[in-house]
Amino acid sequence: MECSWKTVLLLVCASLGVQYTAIRTLRDSLSGPCQGADHCQARHHRDSRWRALCGDNWLSVESSRKHILLFATTRSGSSFTGQLLNQHPGVFYVFEPLYHVQQAFTNSSSRLRRTLDRRALLGAYRDLLLNLYTCDLHFMENYIRPEPQDHVTGSFFRRSSSHALCSPPVCLEGGDGLATGQPDEIWCPKKCGNLNLTLASMSCLSREHVAIKTVRIPEVKDLRTLTEDPRLDLKIIHLVRDPRAILASRIMAFSDQFRAWKVWNATGRQPRYVDLSQITSTCKDMAASAETGLQRPAWLRGRYLLVRYEDLASNPEVKATEIYRFAGLDMEDRVRMWIVQNTNSNVSATADWNYRYSTTRDSRATADTWRLRLGFDIVRTVQNLCNDTLALLGYRPVQSAAELRNLSHSLVEPRTFQTVTW
Ligand SMILES: *[C@@H]1O[C@H](CO)[C@@H](O)[C@H](O)[C@H]1NC(C)=O
Ligand SMILES: *[C@@H]1O[C@H](CO)[C@@H](O)[C@H](O)[C@H]1NC(C)=O
Ligand SMILES: *[C@@H]1O[C@H](CO)[C@@H](O)[C@H](O)[C@H]1NC(C)=O
Ligand SMILES: *[C@@H]1O[C@H](CO)[C@@H](O)[C@H](O)[C@H]1NC(C)=O
Ligand SMILES: *[C@@H]1O[C@H](CO)[C@@H](O)[C@H](O)[C@H]1NC(C)=O
Ligand SMILES: *[C@@H]1O[C@H](CO)[C@@H](O)[C@H](O)[C@H]1NC(C)=O
Repeated sequence: MECSWKTVLLLVCASLGVQYTAIRTLRDSLSGPCQGADHCQARHHRDSRWRALCGDNWLSVESSRKHILLFATTRSGSSFTGQLLNQHPGVFYVFEPLYHVQQAFTNSSSRLRRTLDRRALLGAYRDLLLNLYTCDLHFMENYIRPEPQDHVTGSFFRRSSSHALCSPPVCLEGGDGLATGQPDEIWCPKKCGNLNLTLASMSCLSREHVAIKTVRIPEVKDLRTLTEDPRLDLKIIHLVRDPRAILASRIMAFSDQFRAWKVWNATGRQPRYVDLSQITSTCKDMAASAETGLQRPAWLRGRYLLVRYEDLASNPEVKATEIYRFAGLDMEDRVRMWIVQNTNSNVSATADWNYRYSTTRDSRATADTWRLRLGFDIVRTVQNLCNDTLALLGYRPVQSAAELRNLSHSLVEPRTFQTVTW
């Protein structure tokens, strides 16, 4: 027994040694071209090994390349928060690429969506994230519909949200949209034409970091294999928001889907057909992820930051600095400028931003408006469904309509979440 155990150990060591030598040799032989991003880009499509070795330097722990995931839920302020990351000139930002995966898998049939194998979908989500983090934008071609021709597509979801996808080298016309920092949905495809995914991959390789926003991953534990992947230095920014505010925002934004809630809000009577399951699972997922993070498991060490949107909205400079520090990025002047121009420090710019960028209506001024928009009966119901989530994240329940509408009474308890270091 002892002998075979030793043999196994010896074999394992020998094979690791061989692998290590092989990889070192390969890296040494590539080290010349790897020093210049341009060479890497030129070689990129001839040999896929270049991607891993040049782009990401996956064996090197010192590499400063960060892979940032803005992990959020629909209508939690993630577009705004994503734009904070998008402003950094070294960041390659992608807004909700998992949209294409979900579309391809479910093609808007809600029956299918419910019965779809959850594990398979999550696996496809993780695959896409890994490929984007290693700058293989071509991987998107598996999911984009209609299928891209010659690696070129006109259907990239919310392309305008990304500076990198609307400026050189991807788009030679893209210069001036950048100055305002306020993308709308049409200017970029109009100016830049269809998106060449080869150029997008090159742009990704030439930037120092990659940041991706998604609302489609249910729980942080679904990301565990990515946090453990040696090719990535994943930084998860978990953005949460008061579920009552999320619901109010969803009712306003998706009025067709939320017709029953509108009736409820208008009449004060709960229709029998109203669907409580969506907000319930939003609360459950949000709390489960926050609990996971607050338990500080080894696989999340240094990789998880819990951010309440309300704190960001009321104190954008301070919170943004905290987010940047956690992600390992320098707070550039351009980011500070953008904050000044897009939060309440500049009211007229806020109005402009809100108007032009319809998914982002919230800022310091509007973070509380849900309290005037939601009937007390609905609020009470959500408080019952989500009581644990509210308690965990520090959102106070209200006992009366008067308390709900009294905006000088804050519903956000001051909290510091120790989730970064342990
Ligand atoms: C979904 O399927 C329908 C018909 O089967 C098709 O017309 C539509 O383009 C598809 N949508 C996507 C996003 O693939
Ligand atoms: C996309 O960009 C690459 C790299 O510049 C170029 O070689 C290719 O011809 C472009 N594709 C199209 C269809 O223009
Ligand atoms: C406020 O926004 C306007 C319009 O975008 C801009 O011209 C002005 O410089 C901004 N003010 C500050 C203090 O940033
Ligand atoms: C709910 O009703 C109030 C009036 O009672 C209205 O002001 C508000 O806009 C409505 N909210 C939604 C989300 O429709
Ligand atoms: C939430 O409600 C459930 C069921 O009513 C109760 O058991 C639980 O203790 C409540 N949690 C908090 C934090 O109040
Ligand atoms: C509103 O809330 C503030 C702060 O809690 C309180 O001092 C004030 O009395 C409240 N006003 C009303 C009308 O209840």
